[in-house]
This record gives sequence, structure tokens and C-alpha cells, in this order.
Amino acid sequence: MSFDFNLIVQSLPLLLEGALVTIEITAIAVSIGFLLGLFVSICRLSGVKIVQFIAVSYVNIIRGTPMLVQIFLIYFALPMIVGQRIDPFVAAVAACSINSGAYVSEIFRAGIQSVDKGQMEAGRSLGLSWGQTMQYVILPQAFKHVIPPLGNEFISMTKETSLVSVIGFEELTRRGQLIIAKTYGSFEIWITVAAIYLVMTFGIARLVSYLERRFATDDRN
Ligand code: ARG
Repeated sequence: MSFDFNLIVQSLPLLLEGALVTIEITAIAVSIGFLLGLFVSICRLSGVKIVQFIAVSYVNIIRGTPMLVQIFLIYFALPMIVGQRIDPFVAAVAACSINSGAYVSEIFRAGIQSVDKGQMEAGRSLGLSWGQTMQYVILPQAFKHVIPPLGNEFISMTKETSLVSVIGFEELTRRGQLIIAKTYGSFEIWITVAAIYLVMTFGIARLVSYLERRFATDDRN
């Protein structure tokens, strides 16, 4: 087997363009997933039975089915109901965001429940409402506990977006496949694709540890 280094050099611009698209979907999906997850976790802890039931069902359905199938459902099955083709970008972002929201909601639920329940009682006894205590007392404390698992989710999502290549959306993995279809350089291209993912996830890991140092003051000290 001969290793064609030139192929890597020639393909790099195209792959990096794909990587940019990967970063774009990941950033949007994680941001929407963050808001969705926060909302769902609060619904789940709200104490209102029907709201809790909907929140739990959402998490169970999304976590219990493969993201690949969810992508197919949104891209191929949903258009049959709405009677209109869905843009691959919209389908990709929607699938990743809805999927991420379920995982993020569990992260937030754990974070919120890690705050001593006396904090809620203290807030309430000072005359704050449930919502105000959540916003001003519980969430700021929960937030620092959820930075490491949220970082994990960010890294997971970066890699999971490779699944949207199945609907022909040209992110990094799809770009790799397309280049290989033309050049047959499987080895060179997959190694490069892997290296680019590694650089991205390593960058995120560094960013997360910075945020952790910045915000997550350790209660034990
Ligand atoms: N690939 C797995 C699946 O299809 C894991 C998805 C993980 N998603 C996440 N947001 N962390 O279900």
C-alpha cells in the first residue's frame, strides 16, 4: 500500500470546509439543546403531573431510539405528514437539537437535584416564588455542577453530527466519503477526517476545562 500524502494536502481545504459545517451544526444543536434541556428539566421537576409526564416521555422516546432513526424520521417521514420537503440543514439541526435536548435535560436534572433541598425551602421562606428561587438560588448553584457533563455532551454532539451524512448533508464525514468516491484514497482520507475530529474535540475539551476553572469554584475548598 502506498501512502499518498499529496492527496491529503489536496483534500484538506474541502475537508476543512466540511469541518466548519460540522462546527456550525454542533454549535446550533448544542445551543438549542441547552435551552430545550433546561426547559424540560424544569418541567420534570415542576411537580405538575401532566407536564412531568410529557417531559419524561420526551426523554424516554428520544433516548430510547437511535439518533440515526430520528434523522430518517425527520427527513423522510415528516415530509409525508407536512406535505413538503424539508431542507437537509433544517432536518440535521432539528434532529441533533431534539436529541441533545433530551440528554441535556438529564444533565440539568442531576445538577438541580444536587443542590440541597434546604435551599428551595430557604428561598420560599424568604417569600420568593418557586420560579424565583429556581432562577436566583438553585440554577446558579446547579450550573457549576453541570459544566463537565455539558462539555461531554458538546464533545458527543460534535461526533454524533457525523450521522447526518446519511441524508447527504455535507459535513466533515460526508465530505470524506465524497472525496473517497472520487479518489479511492480511503486510508489517507479517513485518517485525516479522524484527525480533524480529534482536533475539534480536543479544542472543546480545553475550552470546557477553562470554563470549569473560571466558574466551578469547588465547594470543598
Ligand atoms: N449515537 C447514539 C444514538 O443514536 C447516541 C446519541 C447521543 N446523543 C447525545 N446527544 N449525546 O442514540
